[in-house]
Amino acid sequence: MGAGIAAYKVCELLRRLTESGHDVRVVPTRDALRFVGEPTWAALSGHPVSTEVWDGVSEVPHVRLGQHADLVFVAPATADLLAKAAHGLADDLLTNTLLTARCPVVFAPAMHTEMWEHPATQANVATLRSRGAIVVDPASGRLTGADTGPGRLPEPATLFEVARQVLARRGLAHGGHSQDLAGRHVVISAGGTREPIDPVRFIGNRSSGLQGYALARVAVVRGAQVTLVAANVALTDPAGVRVVRVGSAEDMRKAVLEAADGADAVVMAAAVADFRPADYQDLKIKKTDSAEPAPIRLTKNPDILGELVQRRLAGSDQIIVGFAAETDDVARHGREKLARKGCDLLVVNQVGENLTFGAPDNEAVVLGADGSSVEVPRGPKEALADVIWDLVADRLE
Ligand code: CTP
Repeated sequence: MGAGIAAYKVCELLRRLTESGHDVRVVPTRDALRFVGEPTWAALSGHPVSTEVWDGVSEVPHVRLGQHADLVFVAPATADLLAKAAHGLADDLLTNTLLTARCPVVFAPAMHTEMWEHPATQANVATLRSRGAIVVDPASGRLTGADTGPGRLPEPATLFEVARQVLARRGLAHGGHSQDLAGRHVVISAGGTREPIDPVRFIGNRSSGLQGYALARVAVVRGAQVTLVAANVALTDPAGVRVVRVGSAEDMRKAVLEAADGADAVVMAAAVADFRPADYQDLKIKKTDSAEPAPIRLTKNPDILGELVQRRLAGSDQIIVGFAAETDDVARHGREKLARKGCDLLVVNQVGENLTFGAPDNEAVVLGADGSSVEVPRGPKEALADVIWDLVADRLE
């Protein structure tokens, strides 16, 4: 833990970790204890707390802590601590632990916007990421004092989720590639667009955004830098993800195309409306006494996935993934759609009123442009996300 005022939020993270059965050792820097004192950490973790390598020397704590850990989670990570970690300095127990850790290391930076955006900090973050550390982008919002901007420590529940996911991935048989998206930038769209009819009404769909959010969380844990373009979702921003909120298909098109420039992969998990009302009414439409309501004329929306594929023809080797929601004859419609859309992978799932939408689990078949087909049995949306990133990572190599 670095010396940041967000240390108070880490008490809650620590509680969540211990209550879910983890054995946690708290290693603050000297100045971190100015914000929250040693007794609090000792009581909450149930272990003595030290900042120095000179305490309990016979147990060689500066080596042992890092060697024995399953996860090192640095929160808050100050600009100073990121710089020390990037350069391998080791002048206290925490920085020594970072050098001896062979397990996944997560940094959750928190600082003022200017410090976060400074090229020195950004270069240190890039160095840490290139070595396989997970650096969770800070959240945006109110900072200490009156200023606002990126730099807030994400909420404890969100950080706990990152820790849980990283630990879960460590347990996987193929844990060897847990950081296989390090250094990659991926763009994910999620949710369902709303096409306005008038200032009050819209045409929408039943997509909850859960699958897109699961893709974003899993990509962060696998080391990617993630931009999530979210249409009308009521979900908490995942930690470490740049979230761009949009409303209509046209808004989504702009945000996705902008974010996709230079991205290694784009996954279109959003349900984009194929049509929108042709004549938006500036004023609320009133019911009239005439028996027949006026029909709503529709016009076609841009096909964002199609545009991504077209733009790629200009030479990039971006991996593009589409989703298909089908209600019947799923396999045939899926193959046809993959051929029509021209993307690398198409995730086909069967939808219905009580299937997939808003549910925590999903089942799908992922079709490849190379003729491959991977069936993913019903399970958590994170499990499907993992399979999708496995297939993307294979193709990026
Ligand atoms: N999509 C898109 N832009 C649109 C419509 C869809 O980018 N205007 C993307 C979706 O995000 C999804 C994929 O295209 O990844 C498939 O969407 P779908 O609506 O199922 O495909 P359609 O080609 O519209 O086929 P149909 O409606 O006939 O099933």
